[in-house]
Amino acid sequence: MSDEVGVPSTPPVDDWASDYDIFDADYINDPYPIWADLRGECPVATTERWGGSFLPTRYEDVVEMARMVPSLSSADPIVVRPPDDQIDASGAYHTVNAPPISADPPVHTWSRRLILPAFSPKATAKHEPYTRELCNKLIDDFIETGQVDGAQDYAQQIPPRVIAHLLGVDEGKADEFTEWVRGVLEIGLSNPAVRQASREKIFGFFQQEVADRRVNPKDDLISELMAAEVDGEPISDNHIVGTCNLLLVAGIDTTWSSIGSALWHLAGHPDDRKRLVGDPSLIPNAVEELLRAYSPVTMARVVSEETEFKGCPMHVGDKVLMNFPGANRDPEMFDNPDVVDIERQQNRHVAFGVGIHRCAGSNLARMEMHVALEEFLARIPEFALAEGGEVTWAGGQVRGPRQLPIVF
Ligand code: HEM
Repeated sequence: MSDEVGVPSTPPVDDWASDYDIFDADYINDPYPIWADLRGECPVATTERWGGSFLPTRYEDVVEMARMVPSLSSADPIVVRPPDDQIDASGAYHTVNAPPISADPPVHTWSRRLILPAFSPKATAKHEPYTRELCNKLIDDFIETGQVDGAQDYAQQIPPRVIAHLLGVDEGKADEFTEWVRGVLEIGLSNPAVRQASREKIFGFFQQEVADRRVNPKDDLISELMAAEVDGEPISDNHIVGTCNLLLVAGIDTTWSSIGSALWHLAGHPDDRKRLVGDPSLIPNAVEELLRAYSPVTMARVVSEETEFKGCPMHVGDKVLMNFPGANRDPEMFDNPDVVDIERQQNRHVAFGVGIHRCAGSNLARMEMHVALEEFLARIPEFALAEGGEVTWAGGQVRGPRQLPIVF
């Protein structure tokens, strides 16, 4: 059972192999021992909860499943949650309009190609000065107080503004963007009305932005997408709105969670913190290790044709959780996977996924994490978790701290 915000109350789990629950409080707070047990006992667990799904726990299996396209499809639904408003009277799922993540080839191929240039290392580097200035402004606001909620007042504030800056929309609406995205991915998981309202707000917002640019084109990513052509044809407004929806949803909770988990780790591990303060050139390697150890994102697939995985039948409509965080703790792949070693060299982690849907925004995410940690450590080299303060974690498919009281 759980009393976390946005997390439904459910009966306790007796058998994780056949009845796991991604909303169980133990799973939310510390899923790592659960995955370790399953890996030895039943590497692909199953459950009937939340509409039913499979959960692989080994690196090798997660990678193989990510490559089973299109039999494990991304066409919908890509999250696991109580099936309710998503099912219409005929029993069919409503489509989530978020290309390329909600599409299989061929739509996936061209819709991904469309956005990749905006997230190249060179394009991403252009947003670094903005990100650095933003981090410093945020720190200015709390540095005199000797305390901060590292999740809410720092990590959470960065990605929505960087995404707004990149898309060319009002950065002043950052708090609303975060609220909408949490409404879709977190709070709304157990509350269909919140989920639907949040989705409508996101789509309504981007429909308006696209309509405005039809009259007044700007020098930003939305205008660039509107000017692009595929096979000589313009891209529909509906597609552009769907892609903007994805960039907002994919770019906010994910990166916020990663920055928050990194701060949480450094607040509790003074040796690592001191090493990074003493030698900031270690930060990029530490970012990779923190991404591996505290990977935030678990996406899902739906079985689109009768198939079998290592002898286990999978039927059309079954869902599979792409457990990238669990894969990253597999001892077959990583030495001492539960030890965070910020100088780890062998680190082929899959925090950004693997295969055709591998994260298109990974350069941006890495830049944001790097800058956020570098600026925080430079100005606040000594910090720790507040004694008696409560750290809370988000449940569902994007895991990260949502309350992180820090003192310095
Ligand atoms: C630390 C932060 C992030 C993590 C851990 C992360 C993780 C992931 C993962 C695991 C996937 C694969 C999903 C799947 O297999 O279905 C993915 C896809 C994607 N991510 Fe990220 N992401 C992060 C930040 C971002 C950012 C900042 C953006 C840019 C706005 C972004 C944009 C995307 C897009 C567009 C896709 C879909 C790619 C496709 O379907 O071809 N992500 N991300």
